[in-house]
Amino acid sequence: MALFDAVDIIRVKRDGGALTPDQIDWTIDAYTKGVIKDEQMAALAMAIFLRGMDRGEIARWTDAMIRSGARMDFSGIGKPTADKHSTGGVGDKITLPLAPLVACFGVAVPQLSGRGLGHTGGTLDKLEAIPGWRAQLSNDEIMAQLGSGCGAVICAAGSGLAPADKRLYALRDITSTVESIALIASSIMSKKIAEGTGALVLDVKVGSGAFMKDLDAARELARTMVDLGRDAGVATRALLTDMSVPLGRKIGNALEVEESIEVLAGGGPSDVVELTCELARNMLDLAGVHDADVEAALADGRAMDRWRAMIGEQGGDPDAPLPRATHTHQLLAEAGGTVVGMDALSVGVASWRLGAGRAVKEDPVQAGAGIEIHAKPGEAVVAGQPLLTLHTDDEWRIERALQSLSGAIEIADGGSAEPRSVVLETVS
Ligand code: URA
Repeated sequence: MALFDAVDIIRVKRDGGALTPDQIDWTIDAYTKGVIKDEQMAALAMAIFLRGMDRGEIARWTDAMIRSGARMDFSGIGKPTADKHSTGGVGDKITLPLAPLVACFGVAVPQLSGRGLGHTGGTLDKLEAIPGWRAQLSNDEIMAQLGSGCGAVICAAGSGLAPADKRLYALRDITSTVESIALIASSIMSKKIAEGTGALVLDVKVGSGAFMKDLDAARELARTMVDLGRDAGVATRALLTDMSVPLGRKIGNALEVEESIEVLAGGGPSDVVELTCELARNMLDLAGVHDADVEAALADGRAMDRWRAMIGEQGGDPDAPLPRATHTHQLLAEAGGTVVGMDALSVGVASWRLGAGRAVKEDPVQAGAGIEIHAKPGEAVVAGQPLLTLHTDDEWRIERALQSLSGAIEIADGGSAEPRSVVLETVS
């Protein structure tokens, strides 16, 4: 491989130039091997954040990150595979009911997931609220669970998948360079392509609780990722979905497992059910199963049976009581009227401050911490009625959570909130 100098590469991007394929290959390889130092990569990430990358650069950057590690291969399991990736939001527990639901239709779901950082929760943290459940599986265990087992796996992505991204994502997180379309698209797609799924549906969140605050930016991110997937031979589609208000009525680890079980039992909040079914239909469609009646599989217990099998195969007890936080606090409506707004970011930060999320990678999370929402936009309330219940194991956290919630919920006298569909657009 040609030899370059990190300083020259930073300068090219700083001045708005395009990096050559050789420069990109060298950069990712040298960073993975520790030849390029974190301070140099931080400067390059900021230059990319400010100057962007063109489509060719993003495709090569993604490919180089895939080549930095191993690729999984599910061709031996004898079933089509489909996965979903969400760009992250508040109350987004969709993976939990979705994976077993899709598996009901003979499509295997290899969902290699991560932990939460900042105000958005992590799928593994949520499932670890279930007593006995194990996130770490060997490749053989993953293959067995997908092939002869329940057909769905939610587990930790091994350290061999796109290791360049692992280092770079941690660096971006502490250098304020996360919210770059080029860097987000290449980060997500390098992991998903290396994971080896045949079909991929992206849930690109839009709104205050998401990375992408406006529809145009979300569209561009979705388009970039769909193109990267297609070019790599993965059938890819993106849904742009609303994240201006939290999803569902429960936020936090055990609380989100609880709500997912409500959905698997045929109930649950309508927005969670709508998004779960819409994503399931799209995953199945891309995997070659058209016109699947996914609502029926939720209503008749088939998805619940798969969930119980999936949790059990990973050592969890689906019947064990979920952990509860030791302290609760109710936030009451100061006036009557209609709830017309509930800011997703404020609610997510409050849940995080209650102990449901972590500030740094090494922090533990509280299984029982989080927020229950009693009234969502569009619903009428009377003065003194509970709007939220806060849950935490540390009473001192409540004050800081309440600070984040100040002004987050808007109640209007006689007002009404426009009913909004969760799914805003599809990019394919
Ligand atoms: N999730 C990722 O995996 N990478 C990003 O850059 C952002 C969200």
